[in-house]
Amino acid sequence: MKLFVQKPIHQIVAESEGGEHKLKRSLSARSLVALGIGAIIGAGLFSLTGIAAAENAGPAVVLSFVVAAVGCAFAGMCYSELASMIPVAGSAYTYAYATMGELMAWIIGWDLVLEYAVAASVVAVSWSRYVKSFLSDFNIHLPAQFTACPFDQVILADGTITSGIVNIPAILIIVLVSILLMIGIEESASVNTTIVFIKVAVVLTFIGVGLKFINWNNYTPFIPENTGKFGEYGWSGIMRAAGIIFFAYIGFDCVSTAAQETRRPQRDVPIGIIGSLAICTVLYLAFAFVLTGMVNYQAMKGDAAPVATAINLTPYPWLQFLIKLGIIMGFTSVILVLLLGQSRVFYSMSRDAAHQG
Ligand code: ALA
Repeated sequence: MKLFVQKPIHQIVAESEGGEHKLKRSLSARSLVALGIGAIIGAGLFSLTGIAAAENAGPAVVLSFVVAAVGCAFAGMCYSELASMIPVAGSAYTYAYATMGELMAWIIGWDLVLEYAVAASVVAVSWSRYVKSFLSDFNIHLPAQFTACPFDQVILADGTITSGIVNIPAILIIVLVSILLMIGIEESASVNTTIVFIKVAVVLTFIGVGLKFINWNNYTPFIPENTGKFGEYGWSGIMRAAGIIFFAYIGFDCVSTAAQETRRPQRDVPIGIIGSLAICTVLYLAFAFVLTGMVNYQAMKGDAAPVATAINLTPYPWLQFLIKLGIIMGFTSVILVLLLGQSRVFYSMSRDAAHQG
């Protein structure tokens, strides 16, 4: 049946190389690593590490990060292998077309669009929330009704409860990032690299400053005894925490959507995926180690912002401002890479339709 007909790899590659709408191969391994880090480091690290340590793993959340990284590495190697064999845009959509046929490719293609488009919208809403809070630190107060989604409950300055009208900052960031992507892949990649430098610098600053405020007693017991319930400390807790913080690693797959714009995809896409995962793993382990060393995991229970609590233990309140900036930067590059991936999946699907006539 036609729906299950697979498209041979040589045909996929030939179609991607020809035609008037072919993509320019301009990205290097370094830009791909930056794209990967751009998509991976969002708010997950800052928000989930404390929760997973408090509820599930204690200081051993560091081990959970190792477990999640190993899981991601396997998925990353699959993406690397497939992207090297089929170095065209479209990621899992194109791989499915080559291996399982049109129907599966269609389903996966739309799944990817759903993933990228919905994730970008959700992240844009969080971006808006952080920008509002960041600006209010400077006494700039954006109107609550215009920074919330329609029907969302908002509390006005006078205490009145009303509904949101439109989330203007969220729309603005999506429009700005889309314009940047329309300008070109090289420009988008260099903006992404700059953002990545800033957010990695923020994470490194937290680690560097936090190291001096570690209370080594907080690491005992390193693996708190299981309470008798699965997932509450002990090894089961480490595994459950790994599942929770897995979210912080999501995003490395986006690198494969840029395969068709990479100069040497066979070599550079695997470097981009594995390299960004490796760098993020080292950063995440160090971050988790420092955070659980600064604040005892039991004190983090019920604390909505353990990172803020850790910063309050230092004489550097400006770190709060820096972390907010890091999160806003993180969200910006996540939106950028997600929308980049989404447009490449659309591109591949429409190109295939055009070739079928
Ligand atoms: N990995 C991304 C984050 O942590 C999704 O926000």
